[in-house]
Amino acid sequence: MKRTFETVGVVGLGTMGAGIAEVFARAGLRVTGVEADENALSRGRGHLESSTGRAVARGRMTSEQQREVLERIAFTTSREDLADADLVVEAIPEIMEFKRDLFADLDRICKPSAVLATNTSSLSVTAIAATTSRPGQVIGMHFFNPAPVMRLVEVIRTVVTEEGLPAEIAELARRLGKTPVVAGDRAGFVVNRLLLGYLNHACHLLQSGLAGRDDIDTAMKLGVGLPMGPFTLLDLIGLDTSYEVCEVLFRESRDRRHAPAPILRELVTAGLLGRKTGRGFFSHAGEGTAPAPEALSKPAISLVGIVGDGPAAASFAAGLDTAGFKAVLAEASDLGPVADADLVIVLSDAPVVELAVRLPRPERLVGLHLVGESVTEVVSTVLTSAEAVTAVCDLVTVLGRTPVRCADRAGLVVNALLYPYLNDAVRMLECGYATAADIDEAMRLGCGYPAGPFEMLDEIGLAKVRDGLRALYAEYRDPAFAPAPLLDQLVTAGVPSIRSAG
Ligand code: 3HC
Repeated sequence: MKRTFETVGVVGLGTMGAGIAEVFARAGLRVTGVEADENALSRGRGHLESSTGRAVARGRMTSEQQREVLERIAFTTSREDLADADLVVEAIPEIMEFKRDLFADLDRICKPSAVLATNTSSLSVTAIAATTSRPGQVIGMHFFNPAPVMRLVEVIRTVVTEEGLPAEIAELARRLGKTPVVAGDRAGFVVNRLLLGYLNHACHLLQSGLAGRDDIDTAMKLGVGLPMGPFTLLDLIGLDTSYEVCEVLFRESRDRRHAPAPILRELVTAGLLGRKTGRGFFSHAGEGTAPAPEALSKPAISLVGIVGDGPAAASFAAGLDTAGFKAVLAEASDLGPVADADLVIVLSDAPVVELAVRLPRPERLVGLHLVGESVTEVVSTVLTSAEAVTAVCDLVTVLGRTPVRCADRAGLVVNALLYPYLNDAVRMLECGYATAADIDEAMRLGCGYPAGPFEMLDEIGLAKVRDGLRALYAEYRDPAFAPAPLLDQLVTAGVPSIRSAG
């Protein structure tokens, strides 16, 4: 018989649990929110009041609706109050011992028909299910932070989940206004598997000195159109949670890129966990007080040399001309025309030091890579002078783009982060994690990405990504950067889209 879900318990009212309780209450279900003690309970109530208050302030909810939503939620410190719940969603800390105790309790307290769900980001749902006498009725219901906003719910079925239950939970997710994606119980499920690999890789690149925190964030936010840069997002998710997810991913994949970056361990050990503790990669104490932008000065340059082929170089030179700079063009095969320029700009998405060493004054050479509509990667080689970099950053700003400073390494910032992420998605497809359409939808709705990885692959071009991965592999010799066999084969076969390849 088909289940009905009208009364729901939420155990743990931290950021995620409170958000999940809000989602259920907003959809008209009765919610019992459980916390360990009175202090935690009043913090949880506070989360709910401020989140719904924010919706009222933005005109998304009336005060009357806010009152109704809050009235639908009962707050308690007693798990025994969950006896009548049709469904209980657990959102307590990611410690298996705690979960085991909780699920044993829920198994004893809840009525036999009740479904027990976990919002775990990193633990095995199967292992949690095995602690109960009803493993067939235990399922993963994975929400995304902030739960009231992000539209995805991953529904995680295990090998023992009752047939039909994933579809019923998926239907419930739709009733909550969310889009479900059903996936198997594998490390990271769909989204965290892709997302945390990318976020951890950003930490590794930061540590390696490729670029600074703000430059990497800007590159990914403005250059790729992601809603947040990787370090802002890590602070939102929580560095402790991120660390744990990486550990679990590494245990399954043995991929070095999943091994938590040392900087994550340092921050977590120091108790700097991100927004929830007021400091992580950023300080969140004075949010909203951004420093005033510095006044823009037009760099004093008489002649700019531009090295690059084809229309991109010509159009860049035209842009400089319009901004009042004299430019001279050259091709990489003959740098003669730019030998006397004050600055030499090489338009390239690859390292440029080989060109610098061919100039009489290599300290004047800077690489430039235009990313999207508004970002420009400004590449300094080990020979580039600080003055040249500053002048090019000013020039880029005068041209209306945001400069992102980085070192002269394969993939620069954006492609070094984006291409391995796309490669990971292809590998996940290869080993049957989910369909391309589900992976795309999960990343769009779970993380607010403008497009899913397979949509991005099609847009950039499979061959370009494959070649970019080869360059990354040649530079870093990391097996994870070797193009996925499926990607390589499709390029060789001339198939333009993985999505159309099925
Ligand atoms: N609670 C409730 N609502 C919130 C909120 C919160 N914490 N934060 C933002 N909102 C709402 C706002 O009220 C606003 O709603 P409105 O449009 O109806 O007025 C809307 O979200 C947009 O908020 P803002 O204008 O303040 O801010 P932004 O436009 O910068 O958006 C964001 C904020 C929605 C968080 C956006 O930056 C985003 O999508 N970021 C990516 C978040 C992400 O990737 N989440 C997934 C993390 S992975 C995860 O959670 C899994 C776990 O297992 C690790």
